[in-house]
Amino acid sequence: MNKILIAVYSQSGQSMRIANIIKEKLQADLYEIKPKRKYNDDMWKAWDEAQEEMATNAYPGLIGELPDLQEYDTVIVGGPVWGMTLANPVVTFMRNVDLMGKQVSAFWTFYDHDEKYDNAMKDYSMGADYVRGLSLPRSITGNAKKIEDKINQWIKTLN
Ligand SMILES: Cc1cc2nc3c(=O)[nH]c(=O)nc-3n(C[C@H](O)[C@H](O)[C@H](O)COP(=O)(O)O)c2cc1C
Repeated sequence: MNKILIAVYSQSGQSMRIANIIKEKLQADLYEIKPKRKYNDDMWKAWDEAQEEMATNAYPGLIGELPDLQEYDTVIVGGPVWGMTLANPVVTFMRNVDLMGKQVSAFWTFYDHDEKYDNAMKDYSMGADYVRGLSLPRSITGNAKKIEDKINQWIKTLN
């Protein structure tokens, strides 16, 4: 039986909402990626904070233990797009887990620009079997039927 973990970071709830839909469909377990620091509620201020961390390679620590991935065959990593790529807490997660030999995929929510995301996630998944992720712009996350269709298509690409 293919055991699936969804690891998700969500600052304002969008990615968590999607995580819960996928969790139900795949009967997956859910792990929340929680940074030790809080980012500003204002998007542009949060973006300044995130950029400073990116520039200094000072990605946030995470609260609690990382999940034990040994029991999972598939790991799906979810979160928001920050600066067209992974949100900083998701970077911390990817840098600290061993995904070697697992099937890995991802989903991400954003407004309209995610140009670097899929490649960056693929790079962080080195040694894993990376399945192209699920890109969810606002034009899709604002429409329940479109979300459902996109998720169902993507699930078919997983083993
Ligand atoms: C720091 C920061 C940077 C962001 N950068 C982008 C971006 O580059 N492209 C984009 O389309 N949306 C960007 N957004 C918008 C978020 O990706 C979008 O609101 C997302 O759905 C939030 O997900 P969440 O509620 O799970 O945190 C950014 C938001 C924040 C807070």
